[in-house]
Amino acid sequence: MPAIQYSPGVRHDLEEILLTETQIQRRLDELGKEMERDYAGRDLTMIAVLTGSVLFAADLLRRLPLQVRLDCLGISSYHGQTRSSGEVTVTKSLHLDVRDREVLVVDDILDTGLTLVRIREMLGKLGPRSLKFAVFLEKEVPHHENFRADYVAFRIPNKFVVGYGLDYLERYRNLPYVGTLKPSVYESHGSAL
Ligand code: XMP
Repeated sequence: MPAIQYSPGVRHDLEEILLTETQIQRRLDELGKEMERDYAGRDLTMIAVLTGSVLFAADLLRRLPLQVRLDCLGISSYHGQTRSSGEVTVTKSLHLDVRDREVLVVDDILDTGLTLVRIREMLGKLGPRSLKFAVFLEKEVPHHENFRADYVAFRIPNKFVVGYGLDYLERYRNLPYVGTLKPSVYESHGSAL
């Protein structure tokens, strides 16, 4: 399949590519194998945290030759800007029952840890048999919420990134790689980092 040509408006907004499509797909092969071993012979309930984890969840799902049930949890913690508001609200609740299930929560990025701490509290009350967390990215910052993910695809510097599900003002999620945006992009929206 020929490589997709993104419009110059998209490509030219990026300052630096931190993770290429090839790096991401190779790492997911490894992560998929690790999960396959860990969950062998068990039914898995995967919960994808909307919206940022959709590409990560989809790429993981097709690597897991297991019985998997999929649900999505809508969480809003950023409100369209580049810094955490500190507030976490549920925008879409689960429809699957997770009681006595092996639950794996899949999220895009672990930054302060606030979102996943809240999700762990919420889901823990529903009585899962096990509750694990996989994140596509973990920022190299001290996590003040002291949250540790069970699976981490990549650790990245403490920079705001877009692509592979991650957005700035709901854009760039469709990029198959991860990068940083040029300062001019933020300046044009009145939100310099
Ligand atoms: P916390 O601080 O709760 O943040 O761990 C998790 C959520 O914050 C968003 N986030 C980002 N989104 N680029 C993004 O597009 C980033 O660099 C970034 N850092 C944090 C994201 O929604 C994540 O689920």
